[in-house]
Amino acid sequence: MLAVGPDTPQHPASAAALRSNAAGILLIAVVLLFAGCAAKTQPAAKVTLALVDRGLFDKEFRDLRDQQYREFTAQTGVEVKLLPGPESAVEQLKLWQKLLGSGPETLQVQPDVFGIDVIWPGILAEQLLDLKPYVEQDIPAHFPELVSNLTVNGRLVALPSRLDVGLLYYRTDLLRRYGYSAPPRTWDELEAMASRIQKGERAAGAKDFWGFVWQGAISEALTCDAIEWQASNGGGNIVDRSGKVTVNNEHAIQAWERAARWVGSISPPGVTTYKESDASNVWRAGGAAFMRNWTGANVVSNSEGSAIKGKYGVTLLPRGRTGAAEVFGGDGYAVSRRSAHPKEAVALVRYLCGRRSQALQARVLSTPPTMPDLYGDAELLRDSPHIREIRGAMGAGLVARPSTVTGEKYTSVSAAFSTTVHSVLVREKSGSAAAAELERQLVQILSARSASGSQEPPRTARPAHADK
Ligand code: GLC
Repeated sequence: MLAVGPDTPQHPASAAALRSNAAGILLIAVVLLFAGCAAKTQPAAKVTLALVDRGLFDKEFRDLRDQQYREFTAQTGVEVKLLPGPESAVEQLKLWQKLLGSGPETLQVQPDVFGIDVIWPGILAEQLLDLKPYVEQDIPAHFPELVSNLTVNGRLVALPSRLDVGLLYYRTDLLRRYGYSAPPRTWDELEAMASRIQKGERAAGAKDFWGFVWQGAISEALTCDAIEWQASNGGGNIVDRSGKVTVNNEHAIQAWERAARWVGSISPPGVTTYKESDASNVWRAGGAAFMRNWTGANVVSNSEGSAIKGKYGVTLLPRGRTGAAEVFGGDGYAVSRRSAHPKEAVALVRYLCGRRSQALQARVLSTPPTMPDLYGDAELLRDSPHIREIRGAMGAGLVARPSTVTGEKYTSVSAAFSTTVHSVLVREKSGSAAAAELERQLVQILSARSASGSQEPPRTARPAHADK
């Protein structure tokens, strides 16, 4: 049983020492920091929570969180020290596993609160506290799909804090210049518009201008992009609801091959090395007509120094043969089972996921809330019209990655998938050869005994749209 320690040590973090994005440097900094703290242990009753968070790369996001931590401390007397993580989802997960003591390497530092990606519950569940008994009254306010996605074997391992969605960013000034009255509704339209605008802009002197940027590096981001292409083309997800491998089909293959044709035509050859920030750097500098990115890219696109501030719109992704498919992502906040301060940690989670924090987040960063009734805010909808569209897509077009059904094997499943799609994008393999090989690999991954000893994919709760 976890106990709340009355004489909790204080952990005075040096923010400057923790700014680096590199996981290695961060780890060393964290270890040194905590080693220093141990020496300065005070008998004071003051509680300081350590929090590791995601998505802290935009100044606007960091400033907002700092303001929220300060407010939480003013309300509760509990201090919060932030330990930022590395940039990409895969590196973050590796670090979180070390910090939670679930990976091969366990660190001595023990953060209390963890920002976790929607795809991690099945991987980290064992190391996280079941929040259900503490947050029962908060649960009905959130989208049930998100709550169910964060629930593993009946245990609520995190409370939803942020909904993220794959979106299409488009240049309103260029659409006007080329006579388009609306953003593309289908991938075919996107191709035609991107190609025409690219040609025109280059002819007018912008030699490096591209039609469409997205995430093509082997990464979790490519997993998301590729699921969107194939699911909207009728190719389904990587595995279905029951965990059966469905990815080796002609519609998925067609969708990957279409994206491979974008490389070097409407998208830069380097797009196969892009993660989210690479795409948004090109976009923000005014170098592309369209971009696929997450809701968070709005912040950098609209900030001071952006060449396209006020010149772009955001909407749902184009439709394919069978409709639209935007992958949803986002975060929840979880409490480590090893936390020495679970009560305080739960209070912080409730605060960060609460209505007030989410409303602020939505207004300042145009982050879609995880609470349906916050979507009625007229001011928010006026300033961020895509939020209304996301609300509409919530019941229909949003697609979950198969993280719940594949449980702790999700990381291997996603890595195999993005590596395969990448091999098609760089024309190392044909789509059909790559898909057949991927199918074999996935069957092997899913039938192997998992780290926790079970041979079957864990039976876990599943979001409503898991098999789209
Ligand atoms: C965003 C999403 C997250 C996803 C990640 C992939 O951060 O919120 O769910 O896994 O991008 O790079």
